[in-house]
Amino acid sequence: MNIDYKSPGTLEKTRYEKIHSVIFDESKEASRIVAIEIAKLIKKKQKENKKCVLGLATGSSPISVYNELVRMHKEDGLSFSNVITFNLDEYFPMKNNDIQSYHYFMHLHLFSHIDIKPENINIPNGEIKVTNIDKYCDEYENKIKKVGGIDYQLLGIGRTGHIGFNEPGSNYSSITRLVHLDYVTRNDARKAFYGIENVPSKAITMGIRTIRNSKRVVLLAWGDGKAEVIKKTIEGNIDSNISASFLQKHKNVTFVLDKAASSKLTRIESPWKVGSQKLSKELKAKAVVWLCKKTKKSILNLTESDYNENNLSELLISQSAYEINLEVFNKIDRTITGWPGGKPNVDDKYRPERSHPTKKRVLIFSPHPDDDVISMGGTFDRLVSQGHEVHIAYQTSGNIAVNNSDVLKFLEVFSGMSKKAEKDYSRLNKILKKSNEILENKDVRNIAGLIREKESLAATRFIGILDSNVHFLKLPFYETGSVKKSNPGKSDLKIINNIICKIKPHQIYAAGDLADPHGTHKVCLDILIEVLKNIKKKSFMKDCWVWLYRGAWHEWQVHEIDMSVPMSPNQVLKKRKAIFYHQTQKDNVMFQGDDNREFWVRTEDRNRLIAKTFHDLGMSDFSAIETFKRYHF
Ligand code: F6R
Repeated sequence: MNIDYKSPGTLEKTRYEKIHSVIFDESKEASRIVAIEIAKLIKKKQKENKKCVLGLATGSSPISVYNELVRMHKEDGLSFSNVITFNLDEYFPMKNNDIQSYHYFMHLHLFSHIDIKPENINIPNGEIKVTNIDKYCDEYENKIKKVGGIDYQLLGIGRTGHIGFNEPGSNYSSITRLVHLDYVTRNDARKAFYGIENVPSKAITMGIRTIRNSKRVVLLAWGDGKAEVIKKTIEGNIDSNISASFLQKHKNVTFVLDKAASSKLTRIESPWKVGSQKLSKELKAKAVVWLCKKTKKSILNLTESDYNENNLSELLISQSAYEINLEVFNKIDRTITGWPGGKPNVDDKYRPERSHPTKKRVLIFSPHPDDDVISMGGTFDRLVSQGHEVHIAYQTSGNIAVNNSDVLKFLEVFSGMSKKAEKDYSRLNKILKKSNEILENKDVRNIAGLIREKESLAATRFIGILDSNVHFLKLPFYETGSVKKSNPGKSDLKIINNIICKIKPHQIYAAGDLADPHGTHKVCLDILIEVLKNIKKKSFMKDCWVWLYRGAWHEWQVHEIDMSVPMSPNQVLKKRKAIFYHQTQKDNVMFQGDDNREFWVRTEDRNRLIAKTFHDLGMSDFSAIETFKRYHF
């Protein structure tokens, strides 16, 4: 019955992996394949005149599977009339019609769009009295048993390794019950609740046994953020601190991963350990960098025995250690340039950028108004000072990341200026006392957006570009007035298309973040990639190179880097100052992620760390480095 996953790398047959996993380039394609498996099961049961019992998850991971199922219902006539569903969990306490409830989520993404019978939908009820919970949970279990158990259980995985809300410490034999939520889990949910303090501390969840009893289990994981827990779950020992690892005992389980979520698996991270295979140039560099770390040596000091003793003897078949060392050293060393726009009038054969034209038109895309300076402030500064025509395009307004208190501060400053300003201040002050209303009030959102625009202009003026070269695109997908964004559409593509066609850049810089597959950075990248596909045949695009930088969260790995731009100590300070102009994004910002360091500290730490890594590998000793990967379209 299980789908024949034809993706690269089906079951890995080494000693490392203990759970069947399949890896796809993109979560979208993976979700489509999972939806096909579910649809096949539903149809098979229909033919047999049987009910099909699905266990369903919420969270960001299954959304694209639900989208595809809805599409199949609408376009291909897939009927859900024989389907019974049981959801894994619900926050407690929680009103069913609350927008943060999993009831709301399931209707929004699936149930309202298909022909499932309402009486066949089961979601734990966050409204019941606390004194009735045990009885209620027993009934939930019995209901599952009564319909013959779950045929197909869809799961996501939390960064704590939870499945359902079975947090670390959950018992192998646990069943549906009330649980306490882990700090990491609550922190991950804070966006939807406008702050961790509003996230419920409890939930009702199916237990590990309930999940284990399902006939088929498919777990979805997307994005770099899941890579660590996926490695532990698939390759580590069964451990009650990682509930998902209990699935190692299940006879019919598949983990469906995108590239980023699989990136820490041994077969991906260090494939030379898994078996003999030809290593590509990039993989060879990866292996050598890994070997340097392992032996604590620089590249040019690695010996034949270092390779032999660390599973890399394969590399020595066609080259000597000396030749490999030199090849990889040169590959990395040649990425370093103080001329990100290309060094004029020199032989550029081994340089990351072309010398010609000496003055380039450069278009820097920044998903939020501040990613430009946070992620590539040093390079931005060099491009400007080296005389290129630099444009910045802020893709979204970033309005939801401004605190209410900041909006009020600006309004209050102006309230003394005119009667109207005073009136506006007192009206909005009242609204802002109810903190969540910021997103629903258009005036407040506009002011928040304006604040971010003006902060950006202060920073770009400081770096030295004209206001007319700064473009605020306000992509519509972002302007929903809530944390949840809509799917990008034609109008988003058109805006990006227009600005590229207007500027006709020789270089495009864009955020290449894949850490959060449903986050704004990834959506902005997806839109750009789609546009590039559409316009790549235009003559000016033949002369356009695209460079991807990494945002505040992650860094390119050394072997992935195509251009490294070093910064002097003074340039580091200048970059810091440029970031400081984004005042509302300093000190307790709204969407900081789980790293408590401020953005400027994170980026400085990262830029210094990569410089130290280069130095450890035997390159020059720079103060800090910004890195880029070329995107070929
Ligand atoms: C949701 C659930 C959770 C999520 C997990 C991952 O019903 O049971 O286990 O699957 O927290 O969430 P996302 O997919 O948002 O990363």
